[in-house]
Amino acid sequence: MSINVAVFVGSLRKASFTRMVANSLIELAPPGLACRLVEIGDVAMFNDDLEGQKPAAWERLRRDVAGADAFLFVTPEYNRSVPACLKNALDVASRPEGKNAWAGKPAAIVSVSPYKMGAFGANHALRQALVFLDVPAMQQPEAYIGDVAALLDKTGKLNNDKTKAFLGKFMADFEKWATALGRADTDGGFEDFMARREKIAAAYSTGDASMLDTIVARKGTATFFPPTGGSVSGAAEVAARYDGDAKAFSLGNETKLKVLQASQDVAFWTGFQDFEGMIDGHPASLKLRVTEIFKRDGGEWKLIHRHADPAFASSKPK
Ligand SMILES: Cc1cc2nc3c(=O)[nH]c(=O)nc-3n(C[C@H](O)[C@H](O)[C@H](O)COP(=O)(O)O)c2cc1C
Repeated sequence: MSINVAVFVGSLRKASFTRMVANSLIELAPPGLACRLVEIGDVAMFNDDLEGQKPAAWERLRRDVAGADAFLFVTPEYNRSVPACLKNALDVASRPEGKNAWAGKPAAIVSVSPYKMGAFGANHALRQALVFLDVPAMQQPEAYIGDVAALLDKTGKLNNDKTKAFLGKFMADFEKWATALGRADTDGGFEDFMARREKIAAAYSTGDASMLDTIVARKGTATFFPPTGGSVSGAAEVAARYDGDAKAFSLGNETKLKVLQASQDVAFWTGFQDFEGMIDGHPASLKLRVTEIFKRDGGEWKLIHRHADPAFASSKPK
């Protein structure tokens, strides 16, 4: 499975050298990195007062950041630091408070300058912000691209094999490192994860959905059978529903998970089961919400859990 990399360019200029380097990095990326440019030129300056009526570009950026597995920052240097547009993007997607969309995902940084020092100052100013954003930044190799104008041809492509080889290796190393980091994240096994899951449930029961956000699927399939009945399908829809439902809870609530069984080696299906016929001699018509979990045992799937309840929605608990 490839790693979805959101690529950010810290220059808004049409003829930006930095954007040319970013395009080359995308071309040189190994197949395991699915790179996509995320535009930040239309992202309004962060202002907490706008949270009530979020600019559309804020929401788009926050979605793009939340949906990515990793980040590649390609930045010039302004006054020995990060250009305002890039810093603003970092700020916008780090809010509202408790909903830092960057957190925990790996990043790589390439800094670019027409001058000798390769935008070293911007590279490290960015690293400083990433510490607080909880974004681990690849340490080695570092990439400070100086004298950039001399490395590009008239069409904006890299004009020499040495730079291509260096940046190609940089991207290959980024893939290896990001993959290893992802593995390390799940190395503790499912028991460790369940300890975290319980903390997440406790936070959610007090109205804080931010921890749940870190484990909710952002792409592909997801389903939710809410306790009030009905069903929600689709990763975005389910994530939005969790966010919305959290508002019903308040500080001081408590919850505990009483785990009867847990496993990291299972298969499942979830959906609906319709029944028409007789039960105990009476005609019955049922629509059930069903989740079944299977474990492989001696080469066969064995049903280890079934949850079924009526599919109709009731009103919210008072
Ligand atoms: C406001 C401003 C500040 C700059 N400060 C620096 C700097 O500190 N270090 C540097 O190497 N270049 C600096 N430059 C020059 C940029 O490196 C140069 O304009 C570069 O082409 C910008 O990247 P771009 O081509 O991707 O837009 C600065 C440029 C601007 C506009």
